Amino acid sequence: MTIHLKDNAWQVENLPLADIAERFGTPTYVYSRSALENALAEYQQTLAAHPAGKDGLVCFAIKSNSNLAILNLFARMGAGFDIVSGGELQRALAAGADAQKIVFSGVGKSAAEMRQALEAGIFCFNVESAPELERLNEVAVSMGKKAPVSLRVNPNVDPKTHPYISTGLKESKFGVPHDRAREIYRRAAGLPGITVTGIDCHIGSQLLDPSPFAAALERLLGLIDDLAADGITLSHLDLGGGLGISYCETDQQPAVKDYLTPLLDRVAGRNLKIVLEPGRRLVGNAAVLLSRIEYLKEGEGKNFCIIDAAMNDLMRPALYEAWHEIRPVAARSASAKTYDVVGPVCESGDFLGQQRQLAVEAGDLLAIFSAGAYGMAMSSNYNTRPRAAEVLVDGSEAHLIRRRETVAELYANEQLLPK
Ligand code: LLP
Repeated sequence: MTIHLKDNAWQVENLPLADIAERFGTPTYVYSRSALENALAEYQQTLAAHPAGKDGLVCFAIKSNSNLAILNLFARMGAGFDIVSGGELQRALAAGADAQKIVFSGVGKSAAEMRQALEAGIFCFNVESAPELERLNEVAVSMGKKAPVSLRVNPNVDPKTHPYISTGLKESKFGVPHDRAREIYRRAAGLPGITVTGIDCHIGSQLLDPSPFAAALERLLGLIDDLAADGITLSHLDLGGGLGISYCETDQQPAVKDYLTPLLDRVAGRNLKIVLEPGRRLVGNAAVLLSRIEYLKEGEGKNFCIIDAAMNDLMRPALYEAWHEIRPVAARSASAKTYDVVGPVCESGDFLGQQRQLAVEAGDLLAIFSAGAYGMAMSSNYNTRPRAAEVLVDGSEAHLIRRRETVAELYANEQLLPK
């Protein structure tokens, strides 16, 4: 049992959300431990069950949720991590990650971040441009080390998802163009500070149709063959993240098995270690954002349900017009009205949901679903709002995994002028 209804009220594992609000206040992100573990296990078991996946590695994309307790839970289960900054590397290590299971993605790695990752001894740098390759070589040589490298190749396939989260088209800033990859690999193979080990891609996020993954894989396999002809043998293939989740009843999320098995079938017999970088799929549906209604406001032709969570807590609706299911924590028999569910932030874009049918009263609790990925991780202090607390439920126990910030903490780093 993860997040479910019991006696007409929502609960996470064995704890009613109303009790959690009472104990920890609102807004609060509430996670289910078993939902997190089940999501990772689904990947790991699918890999382990396939001859081409046995040696596979699931690297959780930390950017989707960077809470230490969650990273630690995944590390204990043997997961690796996909990082995009020195900060994420430090977090992963603090959470008990095995450095040899870390891949480092991102278009703008600084020399300092490269040094930090070489010092830690990560599994691979996912290099995204020719100049980055040159810099990495220089840094590695200066340290007397060799950097393990994969080129992030842009396969130029359309993931058919929101434009802000499409990354594999040729117009995108990510990766090296497919047409130039072979030449950059040849250069890499000749550099003293570089060991060429793999190839990677990440075509976009929230893909509900897995067919673009197969198209991307074909492009990569073609390149792997070309490189073999050049005498460059790769030992791993990293297919990125991107598998989508259901945000509403009409979204059909593909089973991990249905996404992964055809890809594994295709690489079988090639002696390639498969690496995956899922973010959203491991955490997205493992949490709700719990919030309380401050006011119900009747507008001209529109009703507003004003809650204590806002765009600074969960930015996805404002930024991508993303849909998150919103339900009262306890059902009321009163008749429903149509509301825009909005926060207290001074922006018209500050909404969590629009045109929602809700039977609610001021003071009621709302649960905003599918909030575990890119929720807390993208939150801010806009309007000097302390960020939400995070609570992880394990059976009948609730653990505070991030306490709510205080206002004093928000300006603690600021200084008055001397005169
Ligand atoms: N690997 C790389 C190199 C990535 O850039 C990303 C996500 C992932 C893995 C993980 O992708 P996932 O499995 O989570 O789809 N903030 C947006 C999503 C941005 C995704 C950025 N890259 C959202 O809230 O929808």
